[in-house]
Amino acid sequence: MAGSPLRQLAYRHRWIYDAVTATSALSVGGVGRLRALAAEWMVPLLPKGSAVLDLCCGSGEAAAPLLQADLRVTGLDIAPRALELAALRHSDLTLVQGLAEDPPLPESSFAGIQLSLALHEFPAAERRALLRSARRLLQPGGVFVMVDLHPAAGLMKPLQQMFCALFETETATAFLQLDLPQELADCGLQVERHELLAGTALQRLLCRPQPASP
Ligand SMILES: C[S@@+](CC[C@H](N)C(=O)[O-])C[C@H]1O[C@@H](n2cnc3c(N)ncnc32)[C@H](O)[C@@H]1O
Repeated sequence: MAGSPLRQLAYRHRWIYDAVTATSALSVGGVGRLRALAAEWMVPLLPKGSAVLDLCCGSGEAAAPLLQADLRVTGLDIAPRALELAALRHSDLTLVQGLAEDPPLPESSFAGIQLSLALHEFPAAERRALLRSARRLLQPGGVFVMVDLHPAAGLMKPLQQMFCALFETETATAFLQLDLPQELADCGLQVERHELLAGTALQRLLCRPQPASP
């Protein structure tokens, strides 16, 4: 795990990570709301019992509202420790260890996929591989919802720059310069809804898979 010494410390000591997350989440109403942002858009679109994937699920916080909505949730993450914590938190969450850019899961197996606060951690090639994989894992007409950083405006801008310098890697800085809707489209995911939150420091997008070209 690369990044500034503060980021490495925050990942080693869970309370630092939690405190940073809690402070950042205040602008959307707290950590619970931050983790539920993707589910807020996904749940109303899917019948109960639908199979959904929480890609880069971490320790399972963002999976909670999906499980509460009676969806059948699989969580995928690369980090064994995060998966252990997710298993402790949710007995009904199916967990898979693997790379989000090359997930060990069958094609067209999910009605919905959420990606919460993770894409900014990926270098460009892996980021595109992840999005193409998500497209492959979605059933026709399925829904992909993601939440991540967006360039902040006004007074929030220097704060976001400082936050990224202290706690993120250079992939986050590159992510903030990206035309994300265009990249999603290039990877076969057509944006249907796009919302800016937290004074534009966060964005939430809902996409549908473009039909595969003949
Ligand atoms: C900032 S956390 C977000 C966790 C969760 N989605 C949430 O909203 O609470 C990013 C997660 O991405 C995972 N991750 C990073 N690179 C990955 C990869 N290549 N494949 C799968 N998971 C990865 C990390 O282990 C971490 O759990």
